[in-house]
Amino acid sequence: MKLPLIGLGTYELQGHKCTEIVKRALEIGYRHIDTSIDYENQEAIKKAIKGFERKQLFITSKFELDMIDLKKIPQSVEATCDLALKQLGTDYLDLYLIHWPFKALPMSEVFKAMELLVKKGKIKKAGVSNFTIHHLENLLNDGHKPAANQVEFHPYLYQKELWQYCKSEGIQLIAYRPLGKGAVLKDPVLKKIGAAHSKTPGQVVLRWFFQKEIPVIPKASSEKHLIENFNIMDFEFSSHEMHEIEKLHQNKRFCDTEDSEFDY
Ligand SMILES: NC(=O)c1ccc[n+]([C@@H]2O[C@H](COP(=O)([O-])OP(=O)(O)OC[C@H]3O[C@@H](n4cnc5c(N)ncnc54)[C@H](OP(=O)(O)O)[C@@H]3O)[C@@H](O)[C@H]2O)c1
Repeated sequence: MKLPLIGLGTYELQGHKCTEIVKRALEIGYRHIDTSIDYENQEAIKKAIKGFERKQLFITSKFELDMIDLKKIPQSVEATCDLALKQLGTDYLDLYLIHWPFKALPMSEVFKAMELLVKKGKIKKAGVSNFTIHHLENLLNDGHKPAANQVEFHPYLYQKELWQYCKSEGIQLIAYRPLGKGAVLKDPVLKKIGAAHSKTPGQVVLRWFFQKEIPVIPKASSEKHLIENFNIMDFEFSSHEMHEIEKLHQNKRFCDTEDSEFDY
């Protein structure tokens, strides 16, 4: 899977603002746009991507398991995909994800239905999001291999074991909420490391991901942030600095719900 290391997250971007930001991001050079049916912004993204060559873009979308009729799994998974395709005005998705796992549901059956979408050409790759090692093992044991697992990952949530597991199984880990929704950027260590390179804490975090070759999808709603987050190629961290950032891990999640199964 040819996935750009820096993409754009679009959670909470909607309407005209979303169109404007996504279009500006594409002009700057972003190519991976992350969305989801439940972000309610796919039609706004459709307007933004108009005029850009489709094959130059990498579009990820996601669906919720509660959209699926368990008596008609293949048909209802396909219906979610058709909805995403219609809203985005495209005839394929580069990556389509099960947004949240629920182990009580037949996730292997759902994933099988996604594999059919690959065969039909409606999606290039089928993947998952918020899956733990156990959720992944269940799929793999049933003979299904997701192309990617999009999970929360940042210096306060350095999910090394999950990352290593994904690597060993050939599953591409994608880091969501890489800036901890902005909260991580107040950290004094990140500020200190940034000052030494004349870079902002946001650039420090994104450079850390870049050197680890972990694709990220930071969200930004201003041109300033879009440009800042994209400009991380002209400096480099020593292994000591990389380790200083890793030491910030505190198992802190900014994205958690009552239903989440992170302890599985
Ligand atoms: N799969 C999932 O379950 C899941 C869950 C959550 C998120 N996601 C995806 O991951 C994407 C990113 O996560 P997120 O949006 O929750 O959080 P995030 O990207 O970690 O942080 C976004 C916040 O950081 C701020 N920011 C961005 N660049 C900055 C910079 N250079 N300096 C200072 N502040 C900066 C943004 O402010 P401005 O908006 O003012 O620029 C916004 O408040 C989402 O948009 C979504 O696409 C997926």
